[in-house]
Amino acid sequence: MKIAVLPGDGIGIEIITEAVKVLNVLDLPLELEWADVGGKAYDNHGHPLPEATLNLAKAADAVLFGAVGDWKYDKLERQFRPEQAILGLRKGLGLFANFRPALCYPELTHASSLKPELVAGLDILIIRELTGDIYFGQPRGRRTAVDGHFPGSEEAFDTMRYSRPEIERIAHVAFQAAMKRGKKLTSVDKANVLETSQLWKDVMTEIHAQYPEVALDHMYVDNAAMQLVKAPKKLDVVVTGNMFGDILSDEAAMLTGSIGMLPSASLDKNNKGLYEPSHGSAPDIAGKGIANPLATILSAAMMLKFSLQQPDAAARIEAAVQSVLAQGLRTADIWSEGTTKVSTREMGDAVATAITTIK
Ligand code: NAI
Ligand code: MG
Repeated sequence: MKIAVLPGDGIGIEIITEAVKVLNVLDLPLELEWADVGGKAYDNHGHPLPEATLNLAKAADAVLFGAVGDWKYDKLERQFRPEQAILGLRKGLGLFANFRPALCYPELTHASSLKPELVAGLDILIIRELTGDIYFGQPRGRRTAVDGHFPGSEEAFDTMRYSRPEIERIAHVAFQAAMKRGKKLTSVDKANVLETSQLWKDVMTEIHAQYPEVALDHMYVDNAAMQLVKAPKKLDVVVTGNMFGDILSDEAAMLTGSIGMLPSASLDKNNKGLYEPSHGSAPDIAGKGIANPLATILSAAMMLKFSLQQPDAAARIEAAVQSVLAQGLRTADIWSEGTTKVSTREMGDAVATAITTIK
């Protein structure tokens, strides 16, 4: 099993090192190949996603990705910015379904920004569509307005677009995920205002006929934002478009205590995928050895489950993470009175050690 390992920038290398450490104690026939991506690749090769990196990712069975970005690249033209590497990888690999589970571990109930009783036992899955929506829709740009409220003034515009096949494929992924869980799916849109959302809602309703066992409901995105902080446990699987999913999944992340706990998977139609923590490169703490590596370690577990058909190995990693939390080990982002503060490396070591005791 070939894995492309792309650490990227900021804390990327620190957290990926720990995830690789954990993979290595599993005793699986894994072949890891490392490459530069993001700002690091721009510095070393003049492009955030060099052809060699993209080809390596294409040839691999799965991609394990750290994070990209740093303020020092903010002034670069858009095509050279580190973040373009993620967009290029999603496009190049045909990744369209982003899975972001938000799970509140019992030990971290108090780290959540919500009252413990609202998040105890929380286990929701947000599925975000990745290829469409306002992030890619053309036309986009700047111009002098010829109409609108201020004709003659500078204006900027983006276009929100979704095609039927794009919505259909994410609908199938979402219904199938719901079948494997609580058979409950919430589709989030803004159909009261947006044409794209109306098509989204129509297609979700049509595809629902093929999955009669799943209870489907539709929710407006503003209400979904509210429900996530009011009664998140009422949700199970949530499916939504690219932009709403971006925002709602970060909101959901905070319910669980720290963005440092949240893994993610981005899948293509054959379950080949890219696995990365939900957070960014955290330049504010990079190089300090305090980043939480658990989101990346849990992303590696998702990789074993979804792309490499190793559910038992994935379960061992998840159990090991449970175990280190139960031991009271915490990186700074999830630390609380009475627990033991550990570094990035110590956390990775502890998970690797715990795995050897779990069969
Ligand atoms: P961020 O997720 O990097 O950081 C937000 C806050 O969370 C910071 O205070 C950071 O210290 C903290 N944090 C993040 N991960 C953590 C971890 N594992 N352990 C402990 N604390 C953690 O988001 P921000 O600051 O908005 O962006 C920083 C850079 O990352 C930017 O260049 C941004 O474009 C990029 N970015 C990259 C992503 C990716 O590679 N997929 C996703 C999001 C942002
Ligand atoms: Mg985001």
